[in-house]
Amino acid sequence: MSMDTVVSGQYSALQVLRVAMEGCATVRLSDGVSVLQHSLWAAHQALSANCSGAIIVAALFHDIGHFVCAGDPELAGYHRDREHAALGAAWLGRWFGPSVCAPVAMHVDAKRYLATVDESYRLQLGAGSLQSLENQGGLMSGAELRAFRVLEHFDGALAVRRFDDAPYHGGALAPYACYERVVAASMMAI
Ligand SMILES: [Fe+2]
Ligand SMILES: [Fe+2]
Repeated sequence: MSMDTVVSGQYSALQVLRVAMEGCATVRLSDGVSVLQHSLWAAHQALSANCSGAIIVAALFHDIGHFVCAGDPELAGYHRDREHAALGAAWLGRWFGPSVCAPVAMHVDAKRYLATVDESYRLQLGAGSLQSLENQGGLMSGAELRAFRVLEHFDGALAVRRFDDAPYHGGALAPYACYERVVAASMMAI
């Protein structure tokens, strides 16, 4: 594969991701915040915490599955709560490796994990978040906890989940364009 092919492949991938994130501005979460704002807030926290590029990108795209599901009536409400993590990770998998995609795929189960092992975490969840927790399977069993804890990207998944849960109180956020360099650097060669 020539370098020109690699560069042009990455360029079109960046365009697709940019359009998808623009689309995230039109998709709302249960608290009324757009998926774009919520995602930029998560990425901002990851950047501020000096996380790796992969975790910044995972935080940025962790809810891209809501955009992928949007418009499909079979993937609304309950089903969107359940499916968006796996769908988002699968969609991202054409461009990114497991260090990005696994925390995205695991961010729903990371919430179930944290809600099970950390009562203070569970108590700070809002009504909408508690409803989605139920839709996503509720608290984990002992076997589920043990299986989740040994997954390779456990730490990254919990880090993304903590950023995911921090409430956004408004205020200016760096636009998506500010992250395109780290997005490009985190891509697999195409
Ligand atoms: Fe999510
Ligand atoms: Fe989220």
